[in-house]
Amino acid sequence: METNRKIILTGDRPTGRLHLGHYVGSLKRRVELQNSGEYDDINILIADDQALTDNADNPGKIRDNIVNVVLDYLSVGIDPDKSTICIQSQLPALHSLTFYYMNMVTTARVSRNPTVKSEIQMRGFADEGLPVGFFCYPISQAADITAFDATVVPVGEDQLPMIEQTREIVEKFNKTYGDALVLPKAMIPENETQRRLPGVDGKAKMSKSLGNCIYLSDAPKTVKKQVNGKMFTDPQHLKIEDPGHIEGNVVFTYLDALCTNDHFAEYLPDYSCLDEMKEHYKRGGLGDGVCKKFLIAVLEETLAPIREQRAKWASNIGDVYDILVDGTKRAREKTEATLARVQNAMRIDYFADRKIINDWDSMLKETDL
Ligand code: TRP
Repeated sequence: METNRKIILTGDRPTGRLHLGHYVGSLKRRVELQNSGEYDDINILIADDQALTDNADNPGKIRDNIVNVVLDYLSVGIDPDKSTICIQSQLPALHSLTFYYMNMVTTARVSRNPTVKSEIQMRGFADEGLPVGFFCYPISQAADITAFDATVVPVGEDQLPMIEQTREIVEKFNKTYGDALVLPKAMIPENETQRRLPGVDGKAKMSKSLGNCIYLSDAPKTVKKQVNGKMFTDPQHLKIEDPGHIEGNVVFTYLDALCTNDHFAEYLPDYSCLDEMKEHYKRGGLGDGVCKKFLIAVLEETLAPIREQRAKWASNIGDVYDILVDGTKRAREKTEATLARVQNAMRIDYFADRKIINDWDSMLKETDL
């Protein structure tokens, strides 16, 4: 279906607090998109049903983390007046759409989805047995996206197979039942650093189980400990005079993602910009201690206002609840409208009007009994 509106839908699984990787890779961008004024409608879905597909034995964890994720959203500047924040499980139209879309895709196709494949391995489902619900989450994600008529889906790179799968479902549906669904496009972070901020150990992306995260809600001393105690630099840079390497040096990766020239003016006036600092490090004569101290200052400057906002919202948790109720109510209207359109396209909207009585009537009369 063609639309001239610009609509965003994006979401997160509420399985933990959000960290710096989320901030650099998506949250910062969402706030920019929200404030750009270029979009007609912006929706952020807390995907609690999707989170349950691999946490079925622990719904309490999802329940607790819904509030953590919303607090993280609000504290980075997601504005509930501009963006609709809603909870997936409270939008029954999404469940209905998922059920219809299941007929638009084969098990072979879902099995080929690279993100699903690697998650099956990571979760141990390959040995223990694969829950049908988990296997179907890409289909439910297609329901999320299409229910809002999203034209743009800002996501991390790992989500590209989901958007691809959604597009195929949309094309199949529109071909089978008529043009009722909007074809969405993925929007991924612009540069490599945003796409993949490594954990403090430099090994992989930030992940709770690896203990290599810096959370948006971490206290200053925790941030300091992660940087000073765990952050990977250059193992060959033993003495300050030794030439150092920038590649794979997490301190510089984080500075690439976060620091500005103003930070230098304020905290490290020996250099005017990051390139100058890097040159000195490569030449030799710049120690890791100085670099880490600067990074901690930059991190604090980024995180302090977020932390402050979070504390403010956390002490008014009733307001946060109301934001969710209100956002979810608005989302319910949008998604029910799409479901009605879908059922109409499939001609299964039996009770939309009484016309089916006439159809049945003439069909029965034409039938030779
Ligand atoms: N699968 C996404 C993740 O793990 C979360 C998600 C659920 C999502 N529904 C969505 C993302 C719809 C974008 C659009 O991060």
